Amino acid sequence: MIAVVNSMGYLGIDAYRVRVEADLDNNLPGFDVVGLPDASVKESRDRVRAAMKNTGFEFPDARITVNLAPANIRKEGSLYDLPILMAILCADGQIDGVPEHSAFIGELSLTGNIGAVKGVLAMVIAARDMGLSPVFVPRDNAAEASVINGVTVYAVEKLEEIIAHLSGRKELAPVRASDFPCVDTEGNEPDFADVRGQQMSARALEVAAAGGHNVLLIGPPGSGKSMLAKRLPSILPDMTFEESIQCTKIHSIAGILPPGVQLIRRRPFRSPHHNASSAALVGGGHVPGPGEVSIAHNGVLFLDELPEFNKATLDMLRQPLEDHVVTISRSTGRVTYPCDFQLIAAMNPCRCGYFGHPTRPCTCRKGAVTRYLSKISGPLLDRIDIHVEVPPVDYSDLSRATPSECSALIKQRVDAARGRQQERFAGTGISCNARITPELFHQACVLTDDASRLLKLAFDRMHLSGRAYDRIVKVARTIADLDGSDVISSPHISEAVQYRSLDREYWNQ
Ligand SMILES: Nc1ncnc2c1ncn2[C@@H]1O[C@H](COP(=O)(O)OP(=O)(O)O)[C@@H](O)[C@H]1O
Ligand SMILES: [Mg+2]
Ligand SMILES: [Zn+2]
Repeated sequence: MIAVVNSMGYLGIDAYRVRVEADLDNNLPGFDVVGLPDASVKESRDRVRAAMKNTGFEFPDARITVNLAPANIRKEGSLYDLPILMAILCADGQIDGVPEHSAFIGELSLTGNIGAVKGVLAMVIAARDMGLSPVFVPRDNAAEASVINGVTVYAVEKLEEIIAHLSGRKELAPVRASDFPCVDTEGNEPDFADVRGQQMSARALEVAAAGGHNVLLIGPPGSGKSMLAKRLPSILPDMTFEESIQCTKIHSIAGILPPGVQLIRRRPFRSPHHNASSAALVGGGHVPGPGEVSIAHNGVLFLDELPEFNKATLDMLRQPLEDHVVTISRSTGRVTYPCDFQLIAAMNPCRCGYFGHPTRPCTCRKGAVTRYLSKISGPLLDRIDIHVEVPPVDYSDLSRATPSECSALIKQRVDAARGRQQERFAGTGISCNARITPELFHQACVLTDDASRLLKLAFDRMHLSGRAYDRIVKVARTIADLDGSDVISSPHISEAVQYRSLDREYWNQ
């Protein structure tokens, strides 16, 4: 007897249909799984055997061959336990069969409980697009599956529930989005109102948020760099539904979607430790999956203590920063994950941390600042438009009781500036000023005569490098957008020039 049951798999963040075929014959008893299963799929045999016995079924006294088709894609994880078991039960005639267009996803415990798996959202979306319905998913993955319309999803905890449903003894109710309380973290998000003083730094982050520019914060320990960075997501524009779905898919595939969360609505903020391996940062590794750059997709990647990161690891960020996708090679082919994030990095100016501090002496040797900065790779620095010097906080600022401007107000200005950019770049595929292409540069960035003169003066005086030119003009474009102006005028240029700290000779001592 042979039976076929649908299941799903995913490659990168897109899912595909897997046909689980079970064949039983009367040769010597045995149990094989073929179709490029990895070790975790092979282990399914033991879970399926135990789950079957412990839920009142008989494990067939036959030679069982299970094929996972298409056989040319490697199958990973425990999600095939449930469809394998269903296919064997059908082939053995212990149940009457499953609906033709149904699909099954789930790990089994030895007692027949159905456990959560990764990637359910991507798989439910693909099932819907292929006309597969209903889809049986683990109860613990019900929340993420519930946001997708146009497909019936049954969330199950035990094998018995599926059997009772299929036999008509006790029908399951389809999962609905309204079954889940909206788990929202609103109110707990760090807010700019908590930051005392540091108006200049907060303004620089407003500009960064408004134009999608990458930022580097430079300042002594305790000046509030980490504090400021954590507040960047609070002033970024809201995510669209489509962006939320992408984030949720990736977090689900990475296995880090918190239980009960339907949809990630807030932009991710990821801050990997400087010891993080390149695999952890960009993806891949022993168990290939999305890295921090992809988990930060549509959000913020914060690299604190930037020079402490391994140089080779930082070099690996170049391609993701350039292409906004990462491609990971594996023995069985390549997978691609999106990684469109905004980079914010922080560092001390020198090894001791106090170069340029108004009251504490720097104990580093001459040239230490340049040496410290040289630890950061040039190609990475090249992708950072805004450098902000974060001075030590004044005692008078710290002790003042009046809160600073709150994130909601700053976000209104950011939203307005983003609105102008959307209009300007409509139909070009560009979302913000940081992404202006050379073709669009001159059309989008028109300088007044005064602004041009000022920029030339800044170049001559500060000995700016050629690469600084583009950055300054793009950032000035954003400042003009915050100002509601179509042309870039001299105040916009003079502010933008201030955000090129590292181009100044000051640091070469
Ligand atoms: N501008 C500030 N306003 C309020 N508190 C601050 C400020 N700067 C620093 N702090 C306090 O000092 C702590 C350390 O700041 P942190 O952001 O970690 O500094 P850095 O990352 O520059 O070393 C913060 O958690 C905060 O409590
Ligand atoms: Mg810090
Ligand atoms: Zn120093």
